[in-house]
Amino acid sequence: MSSHQSAAMKNDEWLTPPELLAPLGDFDLDPCAPIVRPWNTAAWHYDLNDDGLAFEWNGRVWLNPPFGREAVKWLRKMAQHGNGIALIPARTETAMFYECIWGKADAILFVKGRPHFHYVDGRRAAFNSGAPICLVAYGQANVKVLQESGLGVVLTITKESA
Ligand SMILES: C[S@@+](CC[C@H](N)C(=O)[O-])C[C@H]1O[C@@H](n2cnc3c(N)ncnc32)[C@H](O)[C@@H]1O
Repeated sequence: MSSHQSAAMKNDEWLTPPELLAPLGDFDLDPCAPIVRPWNTAAWHYDLNDDGLAFEWNGRVWLNPPFGREAVKWLRKMAQHGNGIALIPARTETAMFYECIWGKADAILFVKGRPHFHYVDGRRAAFNSGAPICLVAYGQANVKVLQESGLGVVLTITKESA
């Protein structure tokens, strides 16, 4: 299933609710943003016309990646980059979690409730994500942001030694 888990969310163009983004502060880069977007998520955006996976990432990254099989490629790049926050379904048992988050990220926040994502025209969906959502911090400054966000419970992660 693509995107988040609700069967009603059939494509990748599901935007992060502004109330989840606001407490997280300013980001330098969103490497996977819609071509036409109702609001900015960072100072700089890459979209499908650019291919955000092909570029070097700089600064503090906001990542709400295309889901399904594509997601792991984005999480791999985020783990390597090491500075930013990613939003993904809280499927904590998956291979992607073990490859890119457990032992690799610095903290995870389990979002309280199920967010309502937005259509690309800015409208809020009537239905919720249909699955638990989490925010993953890479870098200690982003751990602090999660801890102070009030968005849910934060678990710090012990890094594997390289
Ligand atoms: C789940 S949406 C998140 C949108 C936005 N980042 C946010 O947080 O609201 C994923 C976005 O990635 C875009 N996308 C998909 N493949 C991409 C690629 N190769 N390069 C850049 N953007 C891409 C889609 O068009 C979509 O807008």
